[in-house]
Amino acid sequence: MTTLTSDDPATSDGASAPASPAAQDLEAFLTRFGADQAAAMHLATVVLGDQLGLYRALAARGPQTGVELAERTGLAPRLVLEWLRAQAVSGYCQHDPATDRFWLDPAQRACLADDGGPAFVAGGTSTVSATHRGIEQVAAAFRGEGSVAWGDHDPALFSGVNRAFRPAFEAHLVASWIPALDGVEARLRAGGRVADVACGFGTSAVLMAQGYPDAIVAGFDQHEPSIEAARRAAADAGVADRVTFEVADAAALPGHGYDLVTVFNALHEMGDPVAVCRRIRDALTAGGRLMLVEPVAGDHLEDNHTPLGRSFLSASTMICLPSALSQGGDRHLGAQAPDGEFREVALEAGFTRCERVAATPLHRVLELTP
Ligand SMILES: C[S@@+](CC[C@H](N)C(=O)[O-])C[C@H]1O[C@@H](n2cnc3c(N)ncnc32)[C@H](O)[C@@H]1O
Repeated sequence: MTTLTSDDPATSDGASAPASPAAQDLEAFLTRFGADQAAAMHLATVVLGDQLGLYRALAARGPQTGVELAERTGLAPRLVLEWLRAQAVSGYCQHDPATDRFWLDPAQRACLADDGGPAFVAGGTSTVSATHRGIEQVAAAFRGEGSVAWGDHDPALFSGVNRAFRPAFEAHLVASWIPALDGVEARLRAGGRVADVACGFGTSAVLMAQGYPDAIVAGFDQHEPSIEAARRAAADAGVADRVTFEVADAAALPGHGYDLVTVFNALHEMGDPVAVCRRIRDALTAGGRLMLVEPVAGDHLEDNHTPLGRSFLSASTMICLPSALSQGGDRHLGAQAPDGEFREVALEAGFTRCERVAATPLHRVLELTP
């Protein structure tokens, strides 16, 4: 890491020309940049591979040539061959130069082809291409009031977010996050009531209904297309009799008497998180809890010099903060706000405690006690 010197613009009065970079610093940065640019370009082919079923078709058989994979998928042979070569040079598939056949090893298969499996990551990659498609409107937001509403993004963002977070919800929500809350699991087993605020495509609400067969779950989101997708998800899962979905702003959460209110990956992108938390506190039963699940983050910017920190801070710049700014308010948290900022919001809204009770690779879980 370079250190600031008196020649750096940050420490000078800005009048003198910046110093030339040291050769090894330049080389190190360009190496890093080259890897990042290659990954960003390659990701377009990952979105394609997921969308066109190429990874699944590759996983369905052993080693295949480009022509064989093209036949299986009904896609243009020359393009399929180039796609395979792009996967091979990025380490996203194996290649035998003697036979010119390509295949997925078990890890590649789990991450790229096994949709519904715990390691599957290809489904979330459309969030990145959707973000790139929104660059012009975010640029306009930078030049103006900073606002881009969630619903104004490319629709691939909405389904991509759902697919990105689903494996984490399936692995942790019922198995460890709810059991970490004081007394909540027993209430849900006895037939408690849950509100899932900013529920998106309804995955978390449906999982809670499946995990607690006597509980009643209501999901709310401001975004009508997401609510329609959530209703379809509940019907497909056979739980529509106990899970309802309604378009509603979080600050006007309908109903009361909830034993548990959940907000997954969303409080940080709301304009007035204090008002939202205050309304939720009023809607809880005595002994009820608010569970905030937020992208994992450390207490300081330096703690977030990680691949996830990079992804979440860039997503925050392009999506979460423009969403918060589009909703007015005066406290805009962003996707990497430290626990302390959520605690301040919670206390201001009338909760007595806000504690981190669990952390998993993607998420931290905060329990708010009225
Ligand atoms: C990143 S997505 C998370 C969706 C879902 N909870 C999940 O984790 O997959 C954020 C969601 O918050 C919703 N949202 C943002 N602000 C809202 C508000 N003020 N009221 C209700 N929903 C809101 C958006 O419509 C979007 O569905």
